[in-house]
Amino acid sequence: ERAKLLNAIIENAIDGIITIDEFGIIEHINPSALTLFGYDREELTGKNVSVLMPQPDKARHDSYIANYRHSGDPHIIGIGREVLGQRKDGSTFPFRLGVSEVKFSDRRIFTGFIHDLSRQKEDELKIKSYT
Ligand code: HEM
Repeated sequence: ERAKLLNAIIENAIDGIITIDEFGIIEHINPSALTLFGYDREELTGKNVSVLMPQPDKARHDSYIANYRHSGDPHIIGIGREVLGQRKDGSTFPFRLGVSEVKFSDRRIFTGFIHDLSRQKEDELKIKSYT
């Protein structure tokens, strides 16, 4: 029952939630994240999370994760960062990315929390253009 409740919370979250394995392969993605990036679930499950970002991060993301695996030195985990995502149609949008590491039953996964910033960024541009 608890597992069902947790699943319902994730499925109905406003923010996008994506889990990957320690090589960046998408294991789970919630409806909000699917809507933000414009994909259906079957299209992303099993794919590298790098399909969701523009260059240069797309080409480097595997090494970002590998660097962390080897050094244990986080650059986003527990810190967060504003990054760009890339939708299926190729367009990009800004979001706040939070990443946490989850260790359970001798496995390690990473959970990414995606808070869309496109509206706020558009509003900021409008405010700037008044001055
Ligand atoms: C590291 C970009 C999505 C997991 C990084 C770094 C950048 C980045 C710039 C750190 C590079 C460095 O300074 O070393 C992006 C972009 C994304 C994205 C543009 C847009 C889709 C995700 C998602 C997850 C994730 C959804 C998890 C589900 C990680 C992990 C690391 C990392 C585990 C290494 C640990 C760390 O540096 O703290 N990513 N990322 N990323 N990212 Fe992503």
